[in-house]
Amino acid sequence: MRNRFSAFGQMGFILKFITKFLWQTDKWSLVAAVVTNTFNSTLIIPDLYLGKVFFDTLVDNVKNPQPLQAFQIILWLVAARLGLQILRSLTNRIGGYYVRILFMKQNQKLEVMIGTKYATISVPTIENPEFRDRYQRVERESNGRFRSVTENFVRIPQYISGVVSALSIFVVTQPLVAFLSLISLIPALSVERIFIKKDFELDTETMKIHRVRGLYYFFLARARSYMELKLLNIHKYLGGKIKSAWQEIIDKRSSLYKSRRTWAFLAGIADDTVSYSFDALFAYQFIIGRITIGTAQAYIRAIANFKQNFSNLTAAVLELYENHLYLKDLVWFLNLDSPYYNNFGIKLTKNAKLQIKFEDVWFKYPQSQNWILKGVNLEIDAHQNVAIIGSNGVGKTTLVKLMCGFYSPQKGRVLIGNYDVKKLNKPRLWDQIAVLFQEFDAYNTSARESIGVGRIEKITDIASISKHAKMSDIDTWIKSLPKGYETPLSRDFEDGVIPSTGQWQRIGIARALFRDPKILVLDEPTSNVDPQAEEDVFNNLLKYGHEKTLVFISHRFSTVRRADRILLLEDGKITEQGGHDQLMDLNGQYAYLFNLQAKSYQ
Ligand SMILES: Nc1ncnc2c1ncn2[C@@H]1O[C@H](COP(=O)(O)OP(=O)(O)OP(=O)(O)O)[C@@H](O)[C@H]1O
Ligand SMILES: [Mg+2]
Repeated sequence: MRNRFSAFGQMGFILKFITKFLWQTDKWSLVAAVVTNTFNSTLIIPDLYLGKVFFDTLVDNVKNPQPLQAFQIILWLVAARLGLQILRSLTNRIGGYYVRILFMKQNQKLEVMIGTKYATISVPTIENPEFRDRYQRVERESNGRFRSVTENFVRIPQYISGVVSALSIFVVTQPLVAFLSLISLIPALSVERIFIKKDFELDTETMKIHRVRGLYYFFLARARSYMELKLLNIHKYLGGKIKSAWQEIIDKRSSLYKSRRTWAFLAGIADDTVSYSFDALFAYQFIIGRITIGTAQAYIRAIANFKQNFSNLTAAVLELYENHLYLKDLVWFLNLDSPYYNNFGIKLTKNAKLQIKFEDVWFKYPQSQNWILKGVNLEIDAHQNVAIIGSNGVGKTTLVKLMCGFYSPQKGRVLIGNYDVKKLNKPRLWDQIAVLFQEFDAYNTSARESIGVGRIEKITDIASISKHAKMSDIDTWIKSLPKGYETPLSRDFEDGVIPSTGQWQRIGIARALFRDPKILVLDEPTSNVDPQAEEDVFNNLLKYGHEKTLVFISHRFSTVRRADRILLLEDGKITEQGGHDQLMDLNGQYAYLFNLQAKSYQ
């Protein structure tokens, strides 16, 4: 009982969601598709009637002494049937047209919705592995699944109208036939109901295997590092893994399929027996003169039509039901909180001085036991340039995430412009910050856009874009490309060019500079830039950045030593800070590391 209730509940949920979604997508196409398709199904009634009259007229006029007169009637009937057929075909095409329009608009809406939603979700949510799992499913399946959901949704009224129309001709004259036709479907429906549940359980069970399989497939067929894949020579190994994952799925599925088909076959015998018995019944009624031959064949066709529509209807409902898990994921995703983009919080003004301050900051990532920051105290004045150093995994990038307000410390405060970052309006804060993360994105439709997205209002201002590209020493290279600033930085497009890793970094720096921020954070900005260019870029940065707060994270002491102040992060704390000379005099860990690197150059 509980199950049936929840199945109904789920159907209700699906229908409500889809109706609302499609209504908002394009209500006129939705109405047009449903109305024309539904109307199309009702045309079976005049069709059956004209068929009946046609055959009866034929039989009545066997050996008619005035054949031409009879033939005239037949011609009228043929014309009427032709007219009806044209109408059916027309409504069918019109319905099909609107379904296609709905498909396209639904893709458009869904893609924009999913994409913009993802971009506004909080960073801790996005970095949560459970979120990633579920989101991947939403993202991967959205188009295909939603398309089938839409299709089913639009067709269901059509099939219902087909069922009702076909049965309606029996209701008055032969109610028992209508009743028995419905009863005869019970065994088949029961079988479907039982197996849907089993199928669903198996789905959940095989999902894990699919996840692993998908991962191996990703390594194999969509590897970003396709060259490494060749060197490792692991394609056969990965292929084998995929094969055995599939085998496990196939084994589990095939036994369920076998029993599902067997039971469906047995249940089908029941309703076939009933509908063929009706043929005998109609034949008998004809022989005793209760119905005409025309009526008999119309009845037989109506039964066939009823069965066809009914099986389409159950298939559509089942498919809709099977998609409910996906839809649940989608709804969950679309309802996630978008905490940043609202009007809340203190809004920094354009001319606020943005000093950065960490006061006894303790931080660990959610779902993690380890404290990353254990009482960090630091202060960076506006217009200062500061280098942060420390070994891999010590928490340098984490400091940046806290500065941006993506995470909040469990203890202590992070202040920007003397305001607790927690309380600041985020878009206003980010408007004054540019960060080039270690893993930055390319936005590579064109070189202009790749830099221009740094300040979207000025994305077409080539002069300014070029000026900032000069600072990161990439302007000359871009200008030498086939289409200059309009050259796509990807091989996916004609005339596209792929920048080298170092060139990408310079483009990234140009983007950050083009943002014209008050605080500029560069997380290992020049790790792949050649020494000469690094020297030039840094000179430019220091010159350009003297009115900005410049924070850079680096493992290269040649750049680090030029900072006004150097902060050493060790074991969750700032353990040394000061200018290069000061830290060398201190002769602590900084001096040790500096000498270590310097020695390797001698
Ligand atoms: N989203 C996250 N969830 C859980 N742990 C994380 C997350 N991001 C980073 N960590 C962990 O926090 C620690 C600090 O990471 P962080 O990226 O800040 O290091 P880093 O100093 O920037 O290192 P690198 O020099 O390699 O860039 C690492 O141990 C890392 O595994
Ligand atoms: Mg880092």
